[in-house]
Amino acid sequence: MPPSALATSGFHHITMVSSDARRTLAFYRDLLGIRLVKRTVNFDDPEAYHLYFGDATGAPGTILTFFEWSGLPRGRWGIGGIHHLALGTATAETQLMWKRRLNDHGVPVSGPLNRGYFRSIYFTDPDGQILEVATRGPGYAVDEPPDALGREEVSPPADAQIVGHRDEGAIRALTHPEPVPEVTPEMRLEGIHHITGISQDLVRADEFYHAALGLRIIKKTFNQDDPATRHWFWASYDGTTVAPHSSLSFFGWPRGGRAARPGVGQTHHIAFRAATSEQQLAWRDHLESSGIAVTEVLDRTYFRSIYFRAPDGLLLEIATDGPGFLVDEPAERLGGELRLPAWLEPERERITSALVPL
Ligand SMILES: [Fe+2]
Ligand SMILES: [Fe+2]
Repeated sequence: MPPSALATSGFHHITMVSSDARRTLAFYRDLLGIRLVKRTVNFDDPEAYHLYFGDATGAPGTILTFFEWSGLPRGRWGIGGIHHLALGTATAETQLMWKRRLNDHGVPVSGPLNRGYFRSIYFTDPDGQILEVATRGPGYAVDEPPDALGREEVSPPADAQIVGHRDEGAIRALTHPEPVPEVTPEMRLEGIHHITGISQDLVRADEFYHAALGLRIIKKTFNQDDPATRHWFWASYDGTTVAPHSSLSFFGWPRGGRAARPGVGQTHHIAFRAATSEQQLAWRDHLESSGIAVTEVLDRTYFRSIYFRAPDGLLLEIATDGPGFLVDEPAERLGGELRLPAWLEPERERITSALVPL
């Protein structure tokens, strides 16, 4: 178990793979209303865009990033990959506004489904990445005491809607009565609500995420769409409160099941927060002394990063909170123009000419 100073406070960002940066920009910025906070290139592959979306300043926990790799084949989810990304919204009403807005723009949406801990709608982005919009509440304490989350395996809450026992027609028909031409302030997406992956060994995952990141199990339950499958949740949890933007869950698949295939429409990696560079260095030592192969600290301009892998193969990152996206642009102009790190600035002309203008 790591010293408590090395327990992450939650997600920093999630990085996905796009085949078309313009289409990704139109979907996430214009349809979902998430601010483009930085347009830059992949520092490890400078001829490819790296787009960052987030809240007004790109606060950790709200950041979604995309590598554009147009030639890469489409991936698929499986063991060692991420199944879906859930973004938060305030209430069941604002969630229905999202369903209506997406449907009116030709995006099929399933749900809302009452998951007990929150309500969920599902859709995909233009590359096939599965997205969910989940309500803030009622939260993980609906079927266990808030100070004893995750101790016992629980059946889904009594009011949850289990596959085969739900009125699919009524669920499909439920929507907001009026068109939603603009993203209103009350429906604004609130960043990462949870991220769900697939593991072939939930007990090993529990040991790993606790030892490596200080995450604690907060729910042991079943997949309501496939009740033969376990669904366990972890989070930054101090024994009383589950921190926002920190919930990571895995479906437990049988050993030797289908492996994830990286590619377009899939998650490339997920990143957790370190408060400071000093903490990140301590974390690096801790991982190394636990026998986990970890990279050197890499300077990503907006944060510093280390990378390592979970036992199922998922690529993980620990990123520092600072210096943040205001380091090279003022708040009002975030994402306005292509930003390059100093060491790529001499190549700006060549890089720009290789990129499709956004
Ligand atoms: Fe989910
Ligand atoms: Fe990253």
